[in-house]
Amino acid sequence: MAERPNEISYADGKILKSAIDGVGVVTFNNPDKRNAMSLEMWEGFGQALSELRDDAAVRVVVLTGAGGKAFVSGADISQFEATRHNAAASEDYSRRSAAQRALLADYPKPTIACIGGFCLGGGMQVAMLADIRIASADSQFGIPAARLGIAYGYDGLRHLVSLVGPSWARLLMYTGMRIDAAEALRIGLVERVMPADELWGATMEIARTISDNAPLAIQAAKITIREVLKDESRRDMDAIKAIGAACMDSEDFREGRQAFMAKRKPQFRGR
Ligand code: COA
Repeated sequence: MAERPNEISYADGKILKSAIDGVGVVTFNNPDKRNAMSLEMWEGFGQALSELRDDAAVRVVVLTGAGGKAFVSGADISQFEATRHNAAASEDYSRRSAAQRALLADYPKPTIACIGGFCLGGGMQVAMLADIRIASADSQFGIPAARLGIAYGYDGLRHLVSLVGPSWARLLMYTGMRIDAAEALRIGLVERVMPADELWGATMEIARTISDNAPLAIQAAKITIREVLKDESRRDMDAIKAIGAACMDSEDFREGRQAFMAKRKPQFRGR
């Protein structure tokens, strides 16, 4: 992976953030532990996400793991004895780590998980919260909660069931088995699988394509798909209508039409 300009670090360097050409990147950087997530890393992750969310120049965010062996191997199990040894102790840990994942769940910009190597437990939760998952052919996926004796929780399982269906969710959860990239692709857990040495380039190509497109139109798709996934009784049709109207009235829609007619590349500004 090329060195990234303007890189900022959090959690003692275990979370890195950078942005270039409209693409923000958050890197899980704890390769000695296969990027296992400590509580400090969850909080650094939340900080990096918030800053990229508030950076008007960033139009899409890529999540990736350092070291070439893992995306994220789950929560840092070495912290469990002190912070998650029973229900009362785990309440604070769960609340604080869930608050950071909630930022990703509600993220207003498109997100892509670039998965090379192990993607396990809490790493799966992060990957499943991203809008799109691109994985290397040598990646492996699993949720070993049943091997550890912990419950995976509503949010994680909701996303798993919506991606792979209830039967695959049960098979994965009951056994704690790991599956390879080909199987993950087949069951709909990831959208595309690339040879390991092409993973980063392919992910960035998709990110740049998204970043060049009209931000409001992408937001409209993101909002509408989110509402499609809700129960009909809770669906916010007004939000869909409002973003649809914002697109139709936008400078970008005019730019899109004019650029098409003039056979030139449109320059979108997100308004
Ligand atoms: N928490 C804490 N430490 C972890 C970790 C985790 N989730 N995952 C890996 N590590 C540590 C290992 O303990 C090991 O540390 P050491 O060098 O001090 O012995 C180091 O990372 C490398 O792991 P290792 O098991 O030697 O590498 P591997 O390539 O053979 O296997 C994994 C990698 C990720 C498959 C394996 O480490 C593993 O199964 N980890 C636990 C995954 C898990 O249960 N996640 C769910 C947590 S909720």
